[in-house]
Order: sequence, then C-alpha cells, then structure tokens
Amino acid sequence: MRKVVFALGAAAFVLSMMVVGGPAVAQSPIVIKFSHVVANDTPKGKGALKFKELAEKYTNGKVKVEVYPNSSLYKDKEEIEALQLGSVQMLAPSTAKFAPLGVKEFEALDLPWLFKDDETYAKAMKGEVGKWLFKKLETKGITGLAYWDNGFHMVSANRPLIHPADFQGLKVRISGSKIADRYFRILGSIPQIMAFSEVYQALQTGVVDGCENTPSNYLTQKFDEVQSDITVSNHAHLQYAVIVNTKFWNGLPADIRTELTKAMDEATDYTNSIARKENEDALAAIKKKGKAKLHYLTDAEKQEWKTAMQPTYTWAKGRVGQEVLDLLAQQLNIKMN
Ligand code: LMR
Repeated sequence: MRKVVFALGAAAFVLSMMVVGGPAVAQSPIVIKFSHVVANDTPKGKGALKFKELAEKYTNGKVKVEVYPNSSLYKDKEEIEALQLGSVQMLAPSTAKFAPLGVKEFEALDLPWLFKDDETYAKAMKGEVGKWLFKKLETKGITGLAYWDNGFHMVSANRPLIHPADFQGLKVRISGSKIADRYFRILGSIPQIMAFSEVYQALQTGVVDGCENTPSNYLTQKFDEVQSDITVSNHAHLQYAVIVNTKFWNGLPADIRTELTKAMDEATDYTNSIARKENEDALAAIKKKGKAKLHYLTDAEKQEWKTAMQPTYTWAKGRVGQEVLDLLAQQLNIKMN
C-alpha cells in the first residue's frame, strides 16, 4: 500500500513539472535546413554559414540552421521542388534556375554584358526590379528574402576562346537559363543544361567541351583541372536568390521571424561584401596552380563578343517580357533596344 501511494505521488510530481513547464521537458529548436549546391569555401557557402551563425545567436538557440553544401541534400532542380514540398526550408539557387517553376523573368539578369560591375548589380537588385521579381514567386509558395552576389562568368574549353568564331560547334554546359542558351547558340555552340554537381565529370569525360562559371566555382569544383583554356571574359553575371518556403516562414512566431530577418540582412551584406575578393583570390589561385591557361580579352575582342551576342536582347523580349527589361533599363540607366 505504501508503495502504491509513493508511486502515485511520484507520478503526480512528474505531471506537475510538465504542466508548469519545469526542467523535465526541454524545448526542441526550430530547424531550418538550408541546402545549396556549391562548396563552403565560396561566397554563397560562406554566406550560408554566416546566416547560420547569426540566426542561432539572435534567437538564442531557438532556431537551428543545418547547412547542406555541395548538393549533399538535393541537386539543382530537385532542391526547388523540395522547397515547395517543405522538405527543405531555405535555398539560394542561382536565378537562372527558376524557369522550371514557370517563372522566366529572372532570366533577364543573365543577359550578356548587362551589369557594368558588382556595385551596379547590387544597387539594381536593391531597387524596384529586385522586389518585382520576388513578387513573381509568391504564387509558387516561395518567399524571396535576399539577393546574393557571385560576380562574373568566365568561359572555358580545351581550346582558346578569343573570338566569337571560336565557339563554333562547342558543346557547352549551362545551368538552366534560356538566355545563356541563346547567347551560346548565337555563337554557334550547342548548349546543354546539366546539374552543377555533374559538370566536373562531364568535362572530364568529354560529355561537354566547355562551361561558364565564376572563379570561385571553377576553383572549388576543379574545373580548371579538366579545361586547358579559360577566358576571363566577365560576359555575364551570376547571382542568387535566397528563398524560403512561404508556409514555413509565415508560420514562425513573429519575434523569431524578426530575428531571422536581421540575421539574413547581415549575412547578405557580408556575402555581397566578400564576393568580389573571393573571386579575385580564386582567380589568383587558379593562375598559381597553372593547370589551365588564362586568357584576357582586349577591348576590341570584347566588342566583338558584345556585337555577336547583341541579338540575345531582341530575342529576350519574347522570353522574359518587356516589363522586366524596362525595369532593368530604368534601374541601370541604359537603353535596351
Ligand atoms: C551553376 O549551376 O553553375 C551555378 O548555379 C552554381 C551556383 O550555385 O553557384
């Protein structure tokens, strides 16, 4: 009998501790899975880790951010589907990868020779066009939080690419944008969409002959080891949209969302402030390794490329629509045909 009374008393004690929220029950953190396809040692990789550090600090550990780099969770196309399904909460895909969603307007950012430099790009995205583009994601269950920078594309093959004619017949990997598809086709190349994680092997085995990307991606993926010639052309820009699953984001307690927004704003400033230097350092490292030969275009050669690729702009109207082109032209203070 005494044993029964003791057991009842113990159960009542445990129950009361649970009801008043005593030390017996620890609250589990809200988990944000942040998936991306590049290495940690790149502007995006470092940006994701900075967001993790700040988000966990500002929420006093109420939020835990798990960063999955290098396509370790999902490859290019799958990650956007996974975000919509809520299997992953946060991504930072390049804006070239939104077309499978039926959102083509982002591809305007891939127009060749559009942004003069990184500052011009960053300013444009903070303006009207950046907000306008994020609105296009709303009906897809996706909320845009920020734009991250990764500088300008180089282009490579196993032969020097100096003049537009050098692109004739080249099988070139592109990441998804129809604008990139178009400017390579205009040059006589055969573009092929392929997931980022498959590019190294495709170059190595000759499935494709060449590719375009930024120095930080060339270095961390070792593309320079399977290409003999890289042209530091800066012919197009690589940018990311940091996005979240809307249902998840709107379902967060308001105070947590405020802290996460602050963490994202600071991680964005950080990422955009290191992007140029990270790519300069990566280019210097590629040069030092000496595996691939680097080529720089003269002003006259650059002009040949610009002239050859110019028809992309006319074609783009039918693909991305006039509205985004007008917004960009206004923001950048340029004329687009
Ligand atoms: C690519 O697929 O080439 C890029 O989108 C990779 C990246 O995210 O930087």
